[in-house]
Amino acid sequence: MTTNDTILEINNISVCFDGFYALTDVRTKVKRNTIHFFIGPNGAGKTTLLDIICAKTKPTAGTVIYYPKGKDPVRLTGMKEYKIVNEGVGRKFQVPSVFVNLSVEENMILALKDHKGILDSIFRKPSKEEMQDIHNTLKRVSLEEKAGERAGSLAHGEKQWLEIAMQLVSKPEIIMLDEPAAGMGKPETFKTGEILKDIKKDCTIIVIEHDMDFVKQAADIVTVLHEGQFLVEGNVNDVLANETVQAVYLGRGGE
Ligand SMILES: Nc1ncnc2c1ncn2[C@@H]1O[C@H](COP(=O)(O)OP(=O)(O)OP(=O)(O)O)[C@@H](O)[C@H]1O
Ligand SMILES: [Mg+2]
Repeated sequence: MTTNDTILEINNISVCFDGFYALTDVRTKVKRNTIHFFIGPNGAGKTTLLDIICAKTKPTAGTVIYYPKGKDPVRLTGMKEYKIVNEGVGRKFQVPSVFVNLSVEENMILALKDHKGILDSIFRKPSKEEMQDIHNTLKRVSLEEKAGERAGSLAHGEKQWLEIAMQLVSKPEIIMLDEPAAGMGKPETFKTGEILKDIKKDCTIIVIEHDMDFVKQAADIVTVLHEGQFLVEGNVNDVLANETVQAVYLGRGGE
């Protein structure tokens, strides 16, 4: 049953690449305003699942249904990728993709929903409200002091936070982050967790991550994938205590 607090329903998703099943019959529900982690060893199919949700990849079978607040459900599978962003589902890829030669603030301006790119931002000045919103968002990721700095001069962690902030300016209902803490040290990872916990008041966050301390810190719910299949789901302590989950991780060198 889909209750009112379900924002995303993943129904029996299978993906076959040239005879190889990257995902087999995966199903789960994501609840509104939660931080929902997908974990699992390398090659489990986590990134492929995000690719399905944002329609970058077409599933062989199954559907993904999105329940925007106060609107009719939207079937994401089969939609065009760019349309899904307009529906309020954002995606941050593993590799940072900020414009290094632009300032932090200029990167945020480019991320505005109705902005059509560099030319548009030269000819159309953002409104006062938009600039206010940009600065409030930068504050949430502790980058307000760096608004005028070149994005290329930011530390690795700060670039990741800028990208998260760039997603937030378009007021998405869901954001998806693929290993946001990769390459970060402990303090930056912890800070990322705190940032996400603040952001979830306004949107639902789907995260892929390998760092178990980070998962423990921030997860409301954890889904474990293994070799393309749904293994278990639950709160972080139950999932990590699960014998099958432990065996799966140990079998792959215990991440
Ligand atoms: N376009 C593709 N064509 C063929 N095989 C693919 C394609 N995309 C992914 N795969 C395969 O599907 C499997 C799942 O890959 P995926 O990237 O989803 O794993 P993952 O859980 O994100 O792993 P990691 O933790 O290493 O990022 C892997 O075996 C991968 O090689
Ligand atoms: Mg991956």
